[in-house]
Amino acid sequence: MIQLEKIEKTYTAGTVQTPVLKGISFSIHAGEYVAIMGASGTGKSTLMHILGCLDKPTGGRYRLDDIDMVNLDDEALSHLRNGKIGFVFQQFHLLDRATALRNVMLPLIYAKEYPADAHQRAEKALTAVGLAERMSYKPNQLSGGQQQRVAIARALITDPAILLADEPTGNLDSKSGTEVMAIFQRLHRDGRTIILVTHDRNVADHARRVIVLKDGQVAEDRLVAQPRDAESELAAVVDEEVRP
Ligand SMILES: Nc1ncnc2c1ncn2[C@@H]1O[C@H](COP(=O)(O)OP(=O)(O)O)[C@@H](O)[C@H]1O
Ligand SMILES: [Mg+2]
Repeated sequence: MIQLEKIEKTYTAGTVQTPVLKGISFSIHAGEYVAIMGASGTGKSTLMHILGCLDKPTGGRYRLDDIDMVNLDDEALSHLRNGKIGFVFQQFHLLDRATALRNVMLPLIYAKEYPADAHQRAEKALTAVGLAERMSYKPNQLSGGQQQRVAIARALITDPAILLADEPTGNLDSKSGTEVMAIFQRLHRDGRTIILVTHDRNVADHARRVIVLKDGQVAEDRLVAQPRDAESELAAVVDEEVRP
């Protein structure tokens, strides 16, 4: 599904060049659950922007479903992006003045054809992330964990094949983070391709495969022998809370 070959990215500011990615190569198949790990500043977000077609590499090849993404023009790129990729960010990026429902419907409003069942689809997406009772709330009336779940529902409303998440638990307390990881686990079980960017080993160990970046290159690419189970971790937290 995804093939990266010797991807390079060098930022240029005036006469100063900063090489960030120095030849990244890997493939990801449909249905994989992959964590991209590495210390802060190693280029994880840069790589995620390239994977998500939000930015172009300065070298190398990127093929998505056998389409050469590096040579596409911006319009073709954004069309592919809207159809295939959903994004979740550390900072949620919700519209403050819009309800949860409206936020989730937004990608459909921007789509070429507004579907007649947009409203129902958004309700279904919010119900799937446990927010059936919060649809008419605005972001500032929701906890961080709830806001991130709205963002996940928004990312999934167009039914993208790939979900890209950049430090999705970075702004959350541990229980809310585990809730988010439990949602990803369900999405993976349902066959969605998930690429999770994190600097946190504990988060990465929920994935089935971990790719570690170091100094702009792939330092490690391994399968996780025993992935952590977010659903049972969540059940354990809830148990502890209800214990007298
Ligand atoms: N738009 C940009 N212009 C110049 N340098 C950038 C830009 N974005 C990121 N960088 C630099 O690239 C490096 C990697 O950043 P980033 O991809 O955000 O790392 P990570 O997500 O792993 O923390 C950092 O040194 C950062 O300062
Ligand atoms: Mg980052």
